[in-house]
Amino acid sequence: MKVALVVDKKLDGNKKKMVESVKNALLKKYDVDVIAFDENFMRRIKGYDLAFNLSTSGGKDTRQLHVPSILDLMGIPYTGAPASTHAVCMDKSFTKSVLLKHGVSTANFLVVHPGEYVSEDHELRYPVIVKPIREGSSKGLKKNSVVTNIEDMKRAIFWIHERFNEPALVEEFIDGMEVTIGILERENGLEVLPIMEIDFSNLPDGVEKFYSDRVKNQGYDRYIVYHIPARLPLDLKEELESVAKKVFKVLGLRDYARIDIRIKGKSYYILDVNSLPLLVPGYSDIIKMAEAAGLKYDDLVLEIVMSARRRYGL
Ligand SMILES: Nc1ncnc2c1ncn2[C@@H]1O[C@H](COP(=O)(O)OP(=O)(O)O)[C@@H](O)[C@H]1O
Ligand SMILES: [Mg+2]
Repeated sequence: MKVALVVDKKLDGNKKKMVESVKNALLKKYDVDVIAFDENFMRRIKGYDLAFNLSTSGGKDTRQLHVPSILDLMGIPYTGAPASTHAVCMDKSFTKSVLLKHGVSTANFLVVHPGEYVSEDHELRYPVIVKPIREGSSKGLKKNSVVTNIEDMKRAIFWIHERFNEPALVEEFIDGMEVTIGILERENGLEVLPIMEIDFSNLPDGVEKFYSDRVKNQGYDRYIVYHIPARLPLDLKEELESVAKKVFKVLGLRDYARIDIRIKGKSYYILDVNSLPLLVPGYSDIIKMAEAAGLKYDDLVLEIVMSARRRYGL
């Protein structure tokens, strides 16, 4: 089988490492070419039996949608979710609306578009967190994204509008345990990988206890402790596993995905659904969770391909 490894034109250090590693895993079973998503993509992708899609860029409102759309158009099988699912997952308010419709719990929220006014008698309970509606990797999240009064909330919303030119999502801040859940589609159905807890409690005083941009991406991550499996009571763990499978199905996710959740008391709140999580060895959460389930990096990559192959009858 000829497999095309479809990647973004520009790759930073982590993504380069991911591409090399996925390629090496695929080479164990397939002929592999790395193909960048650029102006020659439609010509170059012709004739491949399957595409392993790692492309997450392209456009602003349409990021991550192009490669699966074009592959569908050309009838080329590919790994990961279709464009329609990425479209829903890229926009946190779309994701939350679909989840709510299906009875899945997510924090109370409101959306404020650029130029819109937010009234003082909104019904959210402070503290709230103000996020860009369609970014990722903690972009736009900083200490003062969490606010406790209307003035600071307005300021944070305005900053999102100015900085990202997109709506702000204002969401009740869930002060509780954070976990992330990896899901893998396997031969016998959906497998929920061992749940990972992200423990912020060792961060220095004065540093926000959540994945702000600086905590996630700028050196503070060395203070974070990861527990696999998460320290959850059995009933809640089982509830989360079944919720994760439900989320996977209702959003139309495919092959693999990751869901970010916060827990307070006995209640869980879905924060974010990652329809194409990165596969950086030694770094990405889903890799750590797969390893805890006994799946080595290469096996995970090959499992993803097998799941796609089953879907297309290949
Ligand atoms: N409602 C919330 N309550 C508590 N923490 C939150 C909330 N929303 C976001 N966070 C914190 O911000 C991080 C990033 O937010 P998330 O919605 O997952 O966006 P991204 O797409 O950038 O990953 C989360 O991992 C969590 O630590
Ligand atoms: Mg997230």
